[in-house]
Amino acid sequence: MSYENILVHTENGIGTITINRPKKLNALNKVTIQELHNAFTTLNNDPSTKVIIITGSGEKAFVAGADISEFANFSVEQGAELARNGQEILFDYVANLSTPVIAAVNGFALGGGLELAMAAHFRIASHTAKMGLPEVSLGVIPGYGGTQRLPQLIGKGKAMELIMTAGMMDAQEALACGLVNHVTAPEELLDLAKKIASKIMRNSSVAIAHAIKAVNDNYTDGVNGYETEITQFGVCFGTEDFKEGTTAFLEKRKANFPGK
Ligand code: COA
Repeated sequence: MSYENILVHTENGIGTITINRPKKLNALNKVTIQELHNAFTTLNNDPSTKVIIITGSGEKAFVAGADISEFANFSVEQGAELARNGQEILFDYVANLSTPVIAAVNGFALGGGLELAMAAHFRIASHTAKMGLPEVSLGVIPGYGGTQRLPQLIGKGKAMELIMTAGMMDAQEALACGLVNHVTAPEELLDLAKKIASKIMRNSSVAIAHAIKAVNDNYTDGVNGYETEITQFGVCFGTEDFKEGTTAFLEKRKANFPGK
């Protein structure tokens, strides 16, 4: 599939999506959001893709936010629809994918950019990264899950301060508060993402998908995550991966998971 604003590359079981509007600091316009939806769907449905990495092109930005030029004249209804549609087709969609998604934050991750990174299952960053939710400086609030995911990741007080001040965190601050898991040099960022991906790929992709669901249910209103864990734990016992994993352990060999 060919895209206007993103690049998709698959190699050795890793799908890398690069948002490619560097002149606009990779801002998320409508076309880009739809293309990201399509690319995530294609990679998630491809059984040979075991991990997805999302990053931005150029040295300056991961994503500098939703494209402000597209919504500056929106009405109340259009504003709500923008947030609803975006959450549905991209942000919640990514968070709930069964394939692990790593955000490699290579520069500014602001507004929708940080929201996209937070929708990924975890984040790593280059030491040039700067992260924030500056929406209140535009007279609006984060609309792609930022008011929910930032407090989950860094705690309510810190999230309130970052949102209210429209401030930016550098990579070290983000590391210290758990917003990102690792910080590295810009030229080593993708290699680090791939190194982590290759560790993930040694394990059962089926079990990982169940683990993602169980962890996510901890944060889903009205759902008892412990119950989900019990159910998903049980389901694993019926999978070929479970048979292979336990047999390989008992036979003192490396597991070769069929991914079923
Ligand atoms: N939406 C639309 N265009 C954006 C954008 C966004 N969120 N962020 C950056 N751009 C565009 C700029 O308009 C500029 O385009 P132009 O060259 O056609 O004028 C280009 O990207 C480069 O940005 P510029 O502002 O010149 O770079 P800078 O280095 O001076 O500043 C930022 C970088 C990230 C601090 C600044 O671009 C910024 O504040 N962006 C908006 C961040 C934001 O509020 N995001 C939340 C949106 S809800």
